Amino acid sequence: LAQLNDLAVAAGLKYFGTATDNPELTDTAYVEVLSNKTEWGQITPGNSQKWDTTEPSNGTFSFTKGDVITSLAANNSQLVRCHNLVWYSQLPSWVSGGTWTNETLQAVMKTHITTEMTHYKGQCYAWDVVNEALDDSAAFRTDVFYNAMGEDYIRIAFETAALADPDVKLYYNDYNIEYSGAKATAALGIVTKLVNAGVKIGGVGVQGHYIVGSMPSQSDLVKTLETYTALGLEVAITELDIRMTLPSTDALLAQQSIDYQTAVSACLNVADCIGITVWDFDDKYSWIPDTFSGQGAACLFDENLNRKPAYYGVVSALKSS
Ligand code: G3I
Repeated sequence: LAQLNDLAVAAGLKYFGTATDNPELTDTAYVEVLSNKTEWGQITPGNSQKWDTTEPSNGTFSFTKGDVITSLAANNSQLVRCHNLVWYSQLPSWVSGGTWTNETLQAVMKTHITTEMTHYKGQCYAWDVVNEALDDSAAFRTDVFYNAMGEDYIRIAFETAALADPDVKLYYNDYNIEYSGAKATAALGIVTKLVNAGVKIGGVGVQGHYIVGSMPSQSDLVKTLETYTALGLEVAITELDIRMTLPSTDALLAQQSIDYQTAVSACLNVADCIGITVWDFDDKYSWIPDTFSGQGAACLFDENLNRKPAYYGVVSALKSS
């Protein structure tokens, strides 16, 4: 059986990967599939490298949970996309609820980035340095970082990251920026500004959280991704999943398979789209049902680890490139 990472590499990608998370690593059947490098050439820790886990109180760092995932990947010769350093969500309350000046938060942010990147040096293919700086109206999120430093926090974060580890790819990662619209324009603005200022950035991650039957078109995806690669950057689909309103039906599963093919084919049609990561591969551990009530079945495998039509859609897209 030809499996996803092997097919992706044959099609010219660096990897086909998946997110995972610490709690599900007690499920041995799941871990067996996760550990198969022919299926997943790359792993992303879904939660355990985030700020609330890694620096729960000021200056106290804990990398135990993240290390579990990076060593699993290392044991299986899988690449790791490290995720993430600066994000408005999953912040410990000492950060999100703190009283900061530009200077004090800048110092805390620099220490966080430098300490975490130094710990994981040599273990990451890429780091998501700044995640989701834009809200759904395409404005900067007025989070604690923006409120203290203005949009300049993005430049400072990337410059700090470049000093902490010169060998890892530094990514801006966001959702709904990979097809045309105000948010795509705003994200391109952020990235262009960094590039023009000579700030080191290596890639743009487009998350790819979609809804069955309302995918952006392949040509719009390709066209928008190419606006980043035209700047000399690589792009990757970093968190792909395609949810539906439950219960799933054969018709929805068939449409989902087509939608996965659209996303995968778009990446394959962009010269510098280097990889695709699904946001976990198994419906049992997907974040969707907890966040979107009544929705789910967004992944490539069902809750019993059976491959779904979507899996075979990805296979066929990878084979036909
Ligand atoms: O750690 C606590 C645990 O102590 C508690 O018992 C449990 C009870 O609900 O909650 C646990 O925290 C949860 C955490 O995941 C770890 O499992 C949070 O409630 C839950 O909200 C959190 O969800 C994560 C979400 O980011 C938060 O925004 C998802 O697992 C994770 O998949 C998701 O990933 C994000 C990417 O990082 C960025 N892009 C969007 C993507 C989907 O939201």
